[in-house]
Amino acid sequence: MTKTYNIVVLPGDGIGPEVTAEAARVLELISSKSKDFKIELQSKDFGGAAIDSSGEPLPADTIKACEAADAMLLGAVGGPKWGVGKVRPEQGLLQIRKHFDLYANIRPALFPSKSLLTHSPLKQEIAEGTDMIVVRELVKGLYFGDRQEADLDTPGSKGEAWDQMIYNREDVERITRLAAYLALQSNPPAKIHSIDKANVLACSRLWRRVVTETISKEFPQLEVDHQLVDSAAMVMVSNPKKLNGIVLTENMFGDILSDESSVIPGSLGLLPSASLSGLPDGTSECKGLYEPIHGSAPDIAGQGKANPIGTILSAGMLLRYSLGQPEAGDKVFKAVEKVLDSAEMGGKGLRTADLGGKTSTKEMGQAVLEELEKLL
Ligand code: NAI
Ligand code: MG
Repeated sequence: MTKTYNIVVLPGDGIGPEVTAEAARVLELISSKSKDFKIELQSKDFGGAAIDSSGEPLPADTIKACEAADAMLLGAVGGPKWGVGKVRPEQGLLQIRKHFDLYANIRPALFPSKSLLTHSPLKQEIAEGTDMIVVRELVKGLYFGDRQEADLDTPGSKGEAWDQMIYNREDVERITRLAAYLALQSNPPAKIHSIDKANVLACSRLWRRVVTETISKEFPQLEVDHQLVDSAAMVMVSNPKKLNGIVLTENMFGDILSDESSVIPGSLGLLPSASLSGLPDGTSECKGLYEPIHGSAPDIAGQGKANPIGTILSAGMLLRYSLGQPEAGDKVFKAVEKVLDSAEMGGKGLRTADLGGKTSTKEMGQAVLEELEKLL
């Protein structure tokens, strides 16, 4: 029997609709060529587009469609138009993460093609061979704890502010299991680098102990090391290959380190991400939200200049993790590599503006479709 998967596309704002359109074409091509499964896409308002149509960044109708879907593909949200309002597009992102308990944020930092090495801000010999996946805990820690804003206007007030960081054993266990799952996807298994600040923070001491126990009890075949976040941040730009494998960390450290890792390949437009609510091994319910790492890029929105590759590769991750179609996902990555390498091989010279070229969003999407068609 042919299985049909339902995907909700959340184009969002700015360049979001332009880049998701290209990723949607990729999924439609895969659906039309597959004998075993079909993919149905439906588009829903999210972010600023949803504020304009309904007053809320994550309308009930959108949540309902996402609840019924097998996965969600998101463009980007935000922009100066909604910047000062009380209701902001970015609130939709926190709401959707929370609603689906998307606790694991997965951000690979890799070169989709070797020919991109020259775009790295790092020296070529330092950047070459970087291949890490940052796994960030996404729904606990400082960003979700209680907080107190400083009262700076009342005479006599101390003007104190605080944020609370809480982790418990289960929070750390589940993200560690997810990191272990990803480590076991490669052969030989990837090394796990757990990042904390255990010389200062109580949460980090809990983190280190639970990571160590979970790996040694449940995944004795895996190797894990522990590093302090400040020195890991230095290593990430001075010798990033030392962190190859899985970089496992809590919410705030992961926010910072995943941004740091993503500049190594040279353009924000290239990299994908996934946020999951469970292990993507088919044994239990696992919601997945897939999106490029960039924002809505209002400066180039509507001009056909945006690089769609981060979103196309996000669709590749969606095929692998949410639809259980890793071969199809790999083919998407391969097609992108072929298109980018064609420049080096004296082919079409395809580079979008962020990579110094003139290729439009649509032309880039079309080139990926043509390469993908040959692989399917
Ligand atoms: P941004 O990622 O939107 O843009 C930063 C720079 O990179 C801009 O010069 C932009 O033109 C360029 N750029 C980004 N993506 C590109 C692509 N695919 N192709 C070519 N060039 C690209 O970050 P910025 O400017 O700080 O934020 C703009 C808006 O996006 C803000 O409202 C922000 O809150 C929101 N944002 C949303 C995110 C999301 O939806 N997940 C993530 C980050 C920011
Ligand atoms: Mg960030």
